[in-house]
Amino acid sequence: MTAAANRLDELREVLLMGPGPSCVPPAVYHALARPTIGHLDPRFLTIMEDIKALLRQVMGTANSLTLPVSGTGSAGMETSFVNLIEGGDRVLILSNGVFGQRMADVAGRLRAEVEALEFPWGTPVVPEAVRERLAAKEYDIVAVVHAETSTGVRNPVAEIGELVRPTGALYLVDTVTSLGGIPVTMDAWGADVMYSGTQKCLSCPPGLSPVSFSPRAVAKLQARAAKVPNWYLDLTMIIKYWEGASRVYHHTAPINMLYGLYQALRSIVDEGLEQVFTRHRQGHEQLVAGLAEMGIDMLVDAPFRLPMLNAVKVPDGIQEAAVRKTLLEQYDIEIGAGLGPLAGRIWRIGLMGHTARPENVTRVLDALRAALKQQRAAD
Ligand SMILES: Cc1ncc(COP(=O)(O)O)c(C=O)c1O
Repeated sequence: MTAAANRLDELREVLLMGPGPSCVPPAVYHALARPTIGHLDPRFLTIMEDIKALLRQVMGTANSLTLPVSGTGSAGMETSFVNLIEGGDRVLILSNGVFGQRMADVAGRLRAEVEALEFPWGTPVVPEAVRERLAAKEYDIVAVVHAETSTGVRNPVAEIGELVRPTGALYLVDTVTSLGGIPVTMDAWGADVMYSGTQKCLSCPPGLSPVSFSPRAVAKLQARAAKVPNWYLDLTMIIKYWEGASRVYHHTAPINMLYGLYQALRSIVDEGLEQVFTRHRQGHEQLVAGLAEMGIDMLVDAPFRLPMLNAVKVPDGIQEAAVRKTLLEQYDIEIGAGLGPLAGRIWRIGLMGHTARPENVTRVLDALRAALKQQRAAD
């Protein structure tokens, strides 16, 4: 019997311009393929130490508890809530898209008293409305998504931090899509908890979630009356592997994924954070100008647009799914669809990490122009 064809041989490089994952640079692929060593090997421990230091630099924090959780961005979200919430805690979620909704779902499952302050999709969280809510009621945790991937909106996290801080609530910020693409300054924002993911602007494959807890967040964790109700994500145990002279096995670290993250962070720091942000902004400006020439508008008002996630209005009369199919099948380019109320109305064009380069913007604009022409000619 002959062996079935190896599916991996059929894979070819796709230009990943959707909401993530983004394109992985050769240096990160190379890192992933380095020899697997033991997770308690002293050489691996030095890599772990470097990863923590690099994460602090990229996340803008001095927090001692800063490490990558095993699992995708949602594992970071779950880690943040499950370690902090105790039954009956009052949690306020500032929500304007899918990931705000997911936060409310995660917090609700932990028997928190969850309230969502909702804002229309495609618009930012309004600080004045947050101020009013915080004046009316006390909360233990206030949470917001920095870069709402479902809509392309940047929320004003620094302004919100100023409002949350005096109330004494812990401030939790999702930076899954923003980290490594726009400035993320955890300590300057007064954020107590932050998590991210590897497959967006860090340009590493999906699989790890950087998480950071401030000393105030650690104090709440240590003061818990009951154990963290999830074994795998319990930071009180995980830190015993990530910190201290004698490392205690918790679960086998995903060694090669951590090599990938190490290299991805090094590449960002070597290029320079400011330069990385400029590259994202310039790619975004090039894209918006090219789309405008085609008569295509953006969903979000200019001051609140994310450079790495462009929510683009589908022109009238165009079948958006057919355009995405053409881009993938004929041009090897992936772009994303709209979600929830924006399904069918927008495309989401990602310019994340290694993808955010002028030649890629030119490629997607040319392909989109051709696909639209093709569809209009067929009508
Ligand atoms: C803002 C935001 N938060 C959380 C997540 C969840 O991350 P993951 O899909 O890696 O679990 C995503 C994923 O797209 C995201 O964009």
